[in-house]
Order: sequence, then structure tokens, then C-alpha cells
Amino acid sequence: MNVTIVGTGYVGLVTGACLAAFGHDVTCVDNNPQRVAALKAGECPIFERGLPELIQRGINTGKLRATGNLAEAVASSALTMICVGTPSSGGRIDLSLVREAARQIGAALREVSGYHVVVVKSTVVPGTTETLVREAIASASGRSEEEYGLCMNPEFLSQGSAVADFMQPDRIILGAANRRAGEALAELYRDFSCPKLTMALVNAELVKYAANSFQASLISFANQIAVLCEHVPGADEAAVMRGVHLDRMLTRMEDGVAIPSPATRFLRAGIGFGGSCFPKDLVALRYFGQQVGAPVPLLDAILDINDQRPGQVVDLLEAELGSLDGRRIAILGLAFKPDTDDLRESRSLALIERLAAKGASLRAHDPLPQALDNARLMIDGRVLLHAEPEPVLEGADAAVLATAWPVYREWNWERLARLMRHPLLLDARNLFADQPPRGPIYRRIGVGMKAITKEGLNHP
Ligand code: UGA
Repeated sequence: MNVTIVGTGYVGLVTGACLAAFGHDVTCVDNNPQRVAALKAGECPIFERGLPELIQRGINTGKLRATGNLAEAVASSALTMICVGTPSSGGRIDLSLVREAARQIGAALREVSGYHVVVVKSTVVPGTTETLVREAIASASGRSEEEYGLCMNPEFLSQGSAVADFMQPDRIILGAANRRAGEALAELYRDFSCPKLTMALVNAELVKYAANSFQASLISFANQIAVLCEHVPGADEAAVMRGVHLDRMLTRMEDGVAIPSPATRFLRAGIGFGGSCFPKDLVALRYFGQQVGAPVPLLDAILDINDQRPGQVVDLLEAELGSLDGRRIAILGLAFKPDTDDLRESRSLALIERLAAKGASLRAHDPLPQALDNARLMIDGRVLLHAEPEPVLEGADAAVLATAWPVYREWNWERLARLMRHPLLLDARNLFADQPPRGPIYRRIGVGMKAITKEGLNHP
């Protein structure tokens, strides 16, 4: 199928490159000439595992193209996907880019004939496709409803595994205004064997918000249990949740072997969720609930628990060190999660803000040079940023592990702890809960536990 993708951000690029790999003829449109030029040269403008190879292959085989000319791309395709950004401000989602993309697609359709399907992939407030997008296309194209199809097809891509998530999805949601549009969209995904659900446009929009709210609720649930444990001498959230995970709803037994559901990955204490999706989507859904007269107190709780988490981690540090004024603290990990260079809503930034307010002197590490480059744009020069552990840990009163990069497991902690003034590791992601780090000569505390004495019950 000839497909146009409008917007070459994270979702548009992954979608375009993967559809091209499935044999479709894909044209990616962007109004940023540098982006288009980079794509034409086969360069991948974002950090995502497996994506550079797919883009290169798509460009080389001619299955993937890039252009700044939206009208031309739409005219030569049968289906156009809107993958533009939906920034948020004060809880409200700004749909102006979606509206403008729909308007331009509509204007392009005015010039050509033949049935064309417009698909919204950007995460949009429930009702947006049916109203704002439909109206923008209808008025710009002058077409009647029978002459174009309207669909909503949310993405479920997780940064760091987005290519695999697209290629082997759990499900494909086909929101469609009518049967013909739904069938055309289903044709695009003909070669995917996962369950495919066809539903009304508004339900497709809601699936996306509900799915992200559900996942975030698991994280906040575990963190809520963690806070309790942090106030009960000897309690340990990791042990408690190991017991919870064995519920048959979460773990199945096969020949005496326990197979945990992927949901258990989210049912673990940490320093909370960040990134470009969960915080924004939950705030947007909460706002939407208020607008339609159905406030969602569950979302208030999930977000409150998450907002409080960095401060609670700082409390744990203060319980160990006393006043943090003038203390040197090393932050390990800046990206909002491993395998990405993205720092949007990163918990490390929230932690840095709180520690700086307490007068701590800060140094921060991330193993990914691109994450450090992004951090330089977001963190002022007072925080020393480094890709090597030694300059960050040297003379530190404590290290706080804020991003669960697996490389931290590989570090020689015995040697590194000797560089620290006070060899304390606060494992805010409980990365070492199941596997103690190398090197015995330091003190480690995790989140979700209350150490009783300096010698503590919870030593590794
Ligand atoms: C998330 C969802 O996982 C995807 O299914 C969804 O499609 C995507 O948002 C989206 O809306 O586009 P992503 O934001 O890339 O994907 O990352 P996650 O792996 O879900 O992590 C989100 C945050 O939760 C990170 O800050 C992570 O550190 C945190 N997290 C995750 C925890 O604090 N605890 C956990 O147990 C798991």
C-alpha cells in the first residue's frame, strides 16, 4: 500500500520505517528541511535501537522516502497517518499540530479524486478524531464522508524497544468511522498475526489512555507499598512484592517453573515514572475527566504518589546522612529509563532539583553520551556531568542510582567505593534487589525498606 506519514518524530519514524520493512511504500513528510535531508541520506535523527538499520534499508530499497511536500505525498498514496506531536501545557493537550496536519491533508485531497483513508496515530483526547479532525478534513477537502475514510490507530511503542513493539505488537486497535475505512486500515496490517480489534474512533482513543493509566497504576501501587515499608522497621518491599507476584493472576506455573507475567516488571518500587508518555497522558486524561464531569480520583492518586517519590528518596538519604547541605551526591543515570537518551520528565531531574534545594553538591553520570548531551541542555553548569564513574563518585558522600542501566551491575563497586568519602549506595531503582553488586565494602540501601541501624538488617 502507498502510505504517507505526516510527522517524523519518534512515532512517525518508527511507524514509517517498520511499515516500509513490511513491504509498504512509505513517504515520510516533515516541515523541517534538515530532518527531511537527513532521512533522505538514510540517517536516523533519533536514538532508538534497530531504527537506524531499518531507515537505511528502507531508503536503499526505495520503500521509504522523505519529503517536505505533503500535498504531493498524499496525492500519490491511499492512506495517510497523522503522527505529529501533541504537546501539553497545564494539563491540556495542544491539538493545533493535529488540526493543521488534518487541514493540509484535506487541502491535498481537494485536488485529487479517489478514496483516501486518514488515520490519527498521535495520542489525542477522546473525541478529537470524530470532531476536530473530521471537521478540518471536511472543510479543507470539500469531500463528503463517503469519499474519505477516518480512522484512529493508537501506538503502543515503548522507547528502547519500539521497533520490536511495532513488529510484534500485543494487539492492533483499529478505530474506524465506518466499515470501509476499517477494512482499508486492516489491509495495512494484513501481515500482522496479533489480535486486531475494530472499534469506534472514541474507543480507540480511550484504549491508549486507559492502557497507559493501567501501567502507571501498577508502578504507583508498588511505590505506595514501598512508602509503607520505608516506615516499618525491617520491612522490605521487594520481599513483599515477590510474594504478591506469585498470585496466579501474575505468575503461571509450567512444569514447576514460575513464569511471571510482564506486568510484574511494573510492580516494583522505584523512584517513579517519567518519560514523554505516562505523565502527560495521565494528566490529560484527568483533565478530560474534569471537562466531561467525571473526575478520576484514581489518576490523582497515581500522579500524587509519583510526584512524591523523588522527595521520599531524598528523605531516605537524609535518614542516612543527616543534613545534605554541602554533601556531595553522585546521581547515577539521567535518562528517564535505560536504553534511551530521553530525559523528558526524568526522575533524575526531579531528584537533582530537590537535592540542589537542600544545598547538596551534585555530580551525575549516564553511560549514554547522547543522554549527557541532552542533559547539558536541561541542567545548569553546576552539576558536573560525566560518562565515566570515577569523576562522579570521587569524594562523594553517597551515590543515588536513579536509572536502572544494567551497566551499573557490572561496575567494580569494591574499587569504586574506595573513591567515595562515604561509601553509601542508595539504589532508587532496586536494581540490586535480586543480584548483589560486585564488591562488598560499601553500604547499600534500596527503596521500599527501612534499615534499622547503620549495620542494618538490609545489608547485601
Ligand atoms: C510507555 C508504555 O510502556 C508503552 O506501552 C506506551 O506505548 C508508551 O508509554 C506510549 O504511550 O507511547 P515508555 O514511556 O517508553 O512507554 O516507557 P516505560 O518502559 O513504560 O517506562 C515509563 C516510566 O516508568 C519510566 O520512567 C520507567 O523508569 C518507569 N517505570 C517502569 C518504573 O518506575 N517502574 C517500573 O516498574 C517500570
